[in-house]
Formats: sequence, C-alpha cells, structure tokens
Amino acid sequence: MEFKRVEKDNVLLIDDVTSNLITLSEIIRNEGYIARPVKSVEYAMKAVDAELPSIILLDVTMPDMNGYDYCRILKKDIRTRNIPVIFISGLTGAKDRIRGFECGAVDFITKPFENMEVLMRINTHLKEYHMQKNLYIRNQKLNILVSKQLQQLETERINLITCLAKLCEDRDIPESYHHSDNIAANSKLIAMGLSLTPKYEKVITNNFIDMIEIAARLHDVGKLAVPEKVILKKGRLGSKEADIMYGHCEEGRKIVESLSDNGSGINIFLRMAMDIVKYHHKRWDEGGHTRKEFPLPARIVGICDVFDSLTAPRIYKKPYSKKAALKAIKAQSGRMFDPDLVDIMLRLERRLVVTEHGMEVDDDDEYIPEWQITDLRR
Ligand SMILES: [Fe+2]
Ligand SMILES: [Fe+2]
Repeated sequence: MEFKRVEKDNVLLIDDVTSNLITLSEIIRNEGYIARPVKSVEYAMKAVDAELPSIILLDVTMPDMNGYDYCRILKKDIRTRNIPVIFISGLTGAKDRIRGFECGAVDFITKPFENMEVLMRINTHLKEYHMQKNLYIRNQKLNILVSKQLQQLETERINLITCLAKLCEDRDIPESYHHSDNIAANSKLIAMGLSLTPKYEKVITNNFIDMIEIAARLHDVGKLAVPEKVILKKGRLGSKEADIMYGHCEEGRKIVESLSDNGSGINIFLRMAMDIVKYHHKRWDEGGHTRKEFPLPARIVGICDVFDSLTAPRIYKKPYSKKAALKAIKAQSGRMFDPDLVDIMLRLERRLVVTEHGMEVDDDDEYIPEWQITDLRR
C-alpha cells in the first residue's frame, strides 16, 4: 500500500502566558496542524529561522518586544512577508485592532476567545495563503514558459534573418564571402565602442547593440531584387547598371517593411533594419545628419560595409590590409563618413573582423581613389 506524504501546516504561537499557549496548542493539534508554541519574540525568531511557519498567532503585549513591532519585522522580511499573522490579544479597543492591521496582520482576535472561532479563522487564512502561494508558483512557471518561448522566437528570428542574408550573399560575387558576418560583428563592435564615449553613452543602449548585430545582416537584402547579370558583372558598372544596383536600398526597404505587414505596425527592430537598408550607402556630406535624415545605425553599417569591401578582392583590385583600408576610410572622414565613426574605427583597429583573402595590399602609401571606394559601396 502506498502512502502519500501530506505536508502538515505548522502554526507558530507566540504568547508570554503559558496557559494561553497550552489552550491554543490543543485546538491546533486537534485540527491536525503542527503547533509550535514559543514564549517570546526572541524564540519566535529562532523558530522562524529553523522552519518557516504557515501561519502565525501573535500576542500583542509581551515583556521584551511587543507583537506590533515583531509583525512589522516579519512584513519587511522577504522570507516571511506573505505568511499570515493573526493578532490574539486582550486589548479590545478599535485603535488597537486598527494598529494591528496597519502592521500587516490579516486578523485580530480578542481574548477571551472561542475555540471554534480561532480555528475557523486559522482555516480561512490558511486556505487563502495556500491559494495565493499556488497562484504565485503557477505565475512563476508561466513566466518561465513565456520567456522560453520568447527566447525561441528570438532564435528563430535570428535564424531567418541569417538565412536571408546568406541567400543574398550566395547570389553575390564569390569575393563577398562572409560579408554579412563581418559587417554584423564590426557594426556591433563600433556600436559598443561608441557607447563608451560621453557623446553616445545615452544614445546607444544594450538593446541597440544587440539589434544592430542582427539588423546589419539585412543591409543588402534588396539585392534579391537586382538581376544577377548586374550583381555578378565583372568590372565597373555602367551608369544604368549602377542605378539598378543602387535601387537595392529602396527595394530592401520595401522587403523589410513587408515583414511588418501583420497589422502590428513597425517595431523598434524593424525600424532600425529599415533605416540601415535604406540609408547604408548615403554619404555624410550629402547633408542632413539628424537621426531621421541619416540614422546612426545606417552610418555604422555603411562604414563597416566599405571597410569589408576594401579588405576583400575585386576584379580591379587586390584585398587591402586593415591598415590600408583604414587609411582610405580616414581620408574620407567628414566626407563620405561620420568623423565620430572613423575615429572609433581607428581606435578599434585590432578588434575589427576581416576575412583572410591572402595577397593583401599592405602598402601604407597605397592611394585608394574615391571612385573605387564609391564603386565598392554596392
Ligand atoms: Fe554590403
Ligand atoms: Fe548595399
């Protein structure tokens, strides 16, 4: 035969009068609860430390600490604040009862008491206590479940975006291998670097840093709408082809916007992704450097885009070393690029991620013409 262990509620009784403790203990034990009688607050504290009670019956007038003060202590302690406290006292005035409730008690029984009344009140408050406890546990479990599901959704979102970015990369020239991974890593790095400067510490939050790492991968998503013969053309693009190529910014914006076509509006992540996709080829000196005209995420991804293209090979150039690429970027500070970003990029040189292509141009005196940088900004 199997016996199911039933947890008995334990009732802490605090009263300096022994006869009261005996009477109350009897009532409580007869009902099947565990009675834990103590004669002072000092012993009550030890009993609470040893095992948390399910409910506390507390006398008001006691020699050392009175019941009101102890009740306040119990309500301040995170371990005991939800344990119901019932005052049981010879004080009969309304003011005394009100004071008891103000201290956080759930009930006030006056002596002499009816045994049955004490029992009924204990049962009622214990029932409510267990209901609230179960509700709290259920809520905790629900919160864990919801956060796990949110985490899963987030992982799926990142996977989807990574797939989309890879799809674009696969259609692009083979030299742009790892392009989106590098841009994601470097954009995150620049954002982190900026967030440590007084000018940007309030602008760039942890959320911004997490989002830009993911959103940066989408920057060229509009290339899905560009014909392969333009994307894969070896050498410089003609003006018509260049127009088609640069159309990927607007096409990309439409793609990202369509991701929010579920009636819920554009969330903060999609807003950042749209800004990046639309403006990542904009120049700093084209005017308008406010958030709306040339948003910071687009400026960050734009500079990382050029840096990655400079360090990758093209039909008309070898890959540049980090040093040579940064030299070209520095020459465009305040022209093509935001000077703050150039500055932070130079400071983070060692941490910038590049794909090893071999046979780099590492000549410090190497001059990289502006048309070449512009061409690389595909
Ligand atoms: Fe790109
Ligand atoms: Fe692009």
